[in-house]
Amino acid sequence: MTGRNQTIVSEFLLMGLPIESEHQNLFYVLFLAMYITTVLGNLLILVLICLDPHLHTPMYLFLSNLSFSDLCFSSVTMPKLMQNMQSQDPSIPYAGCLTQMYFFLFFGDLEDFLLVAMAYDRYVAICFPLHYTAIMGPRLCLFLVVLPWILTTSHAMLHTLLMARLHFCEDNVIPHFFCDLSALLKLSCSDTRVNELVIFFVGGLIIVIPFLLIIMSYARIVSSILKVPSAKGICKAFSTCGSHLTVVSLFYGTIIGLYLCPSANNSTVKETVMSMMYTVVTPMLNPFIYSLRNRDMKGALKRVFCRKKIHFSL
Ligand SMILES: *[C@@H]1O[C@H](CO)[C@@H](O)[C@H](O)[C@H]1NC(C)=O
Repeated sequence: MTGRNQTIVSEFLLMGLPIESEHQNLFYVLFLAMYITTVLGNLLILVLICLDPHLHTPMYLFLSNLSFSDLCFSSVTMPKLMQNMQSQDPSIPYAGCLTQMYFFLFFGDLEDFLLVAMAYDRYVAICFPLHYTAIMGPRLCLFLVVLPWILTTSHAMLHTLLMARLHFCEDNVIPHFFCDLSALLKLSCSDTRVNELVIFFVGGLIIVIPFLLIIMSYARIVSSILKVPSAKGICKAFSTCGSHLTVVSLFYGTIIGLYLCPSANNSTVKETVMSMMYTVVTPMLNPFIYSLRNRDMKGALKRVFCRKKIHFSL
C-alpha cells in the first residue's frame, strides 16, 4: 500500500444513512420527532421518579438510571446525525470521532448492565418476597449501579485506547451515521488484529454474560411460579416482569439480529438499519413500555401534577 503513515487523517467523513436526497427532509423530520420523543419521555420518567417518594423503590431507581442512560445513549448519535443531514459538510474531527465512540460504548454497555440489575431485582421480588426489603437494601442497590459504571468505563476506555494507537491513511470515509468501532477498524491502515481479538473476547463476554444472567433470573422466576401455580401468582409475575422482558427482548433481539445473522449482500444497509433500531428506537420505546400500562407511574403522574396545581392556586 502506498502513502502509508504519510498523511495523518485529522478528520473523518460520516456518510450518514443511505437515503435518497429527495427523502432527506422527510427523514429529518421523522428523526427529529423521534429524538424529541426520546428526550421528553425519558425526562418525564426521571422527573416523576425523582419527585414522587412512592417511587423511591429499587425497581424505580434502576428504571430512572436506565432512562438516564437511554437519554444519553441517543444523544451521542442523534444530534450529530441530524446536523449532518442538514449541512453539506459531513466531517467530524478525529478527537470528536473517538469521543463519540467512547460514549457510544459507554452508554450502550451501561444499558446492558442495568438490565441485569433490574432482572436480579425482579428475581428477588418474586422468589423472596418476604425478604425483599432486607436483601435489596440501599447498599446493594448502590453497588448494582456503581459496578456497571466501573465496568463500562474500563470497557469503553480499553477500546478507545486501542483505537488511538491505530494509524489512518488517506481513506477517511465512514459508511455509517456515527463513528462505529468496526467501521473505523476497516478504515485503518495499521494492523488491527489485537483490536479484533479484544472485540471478540471482551465484547462477547460483555454481551453473553449479562444475557445469561438475565436468562437465569427469569428461569428461576418461572420455576418458582410453576412450583405453586396459581392464576394470581402468574398475573402478578407477569405484571411485574412483562415490561422488563419486553425491553430485554428488544435490546437483545437487535443485537442478536445484527451480530449473529450476518448477511453477505447489502450488509452495510442492514447494519445501518439495525443500528438505527437500537440507537434510536429502543431508547424511545423504553419509557412507553414502562409507563403506559403501569399503575404506579400513572399514580405518580397524577400526584405530581395535582400537587403542582395546588401550589399554583396557593
Ligand atoms: C441510580 O440508582 C441509584 C441507586 O439505586 C440512585 O441512588 C440514583 O438516584 C439513581 N440515579 C438516577 C439518575 O436516577
